[in-house]
Amino acid sequence: MISIHLNGKPQAFDLSPDVPLLWALRDVARMTGTKFGCGLGLCGACTVHVDGVATRSCVTPIGSLSGKRVTTIEAIGEAPAGKATQVAWLAQEVVQCGYCQSGQIMTASALLAKHPEPTDAQIDEAMSGNICRCGTYSRIREAIKAAAVSPILKRGA
Ligand code: FES
Ligand code: FES
Repeated sequence: MISIHLNGKPQAFDLSPDVPLLWALRDVARMTGTKFGCGLGLCGACTVHVDGVATRSCVTPIGSLSGKRVTTIEAIGEAPAGKATQVAWLAQEVVQCGYCQSGQIMTASALLAKHPEPTDAQIDEAMSGNICRCGTYSRIREAIKAAAVSPILKRGA
């Protein structure tokens, strides 16, 4: 058994340690908001937070996560940076097909939690590994900037 804290609750997985976290989330915990894209750590669609750090769940073995805090898109709105990000995403109408967007929001919210007033360079660096086939990059940038000045984020900072 491998025990983690998933979205604030204890969760045990009876899985081989080398099973990717993404499969544990989707197939065992039935949290399907985290998406499979490339499976190789290259697209960012599967991004979750591990102890607050944006992490590619497709290349993270569940066995490496004992005792760690994993947060997925299903619970990101419970944290100020996550809530501010979600609200800004809606206001800026970022989403097109939506497939990449849970990963985009997870990466952006980790950035904002660490850097509440990110520079353009910090945004570029943080978001460069999240691919969007629909080309929503300019709206993502605007949403991150909007979230950074959001009262929701300021209250939580
Ligand atoms: S599915 Fe994990 S980075 Fe692409
Ligand atoms: S919104 Fe379609 S891939 Fe990003």
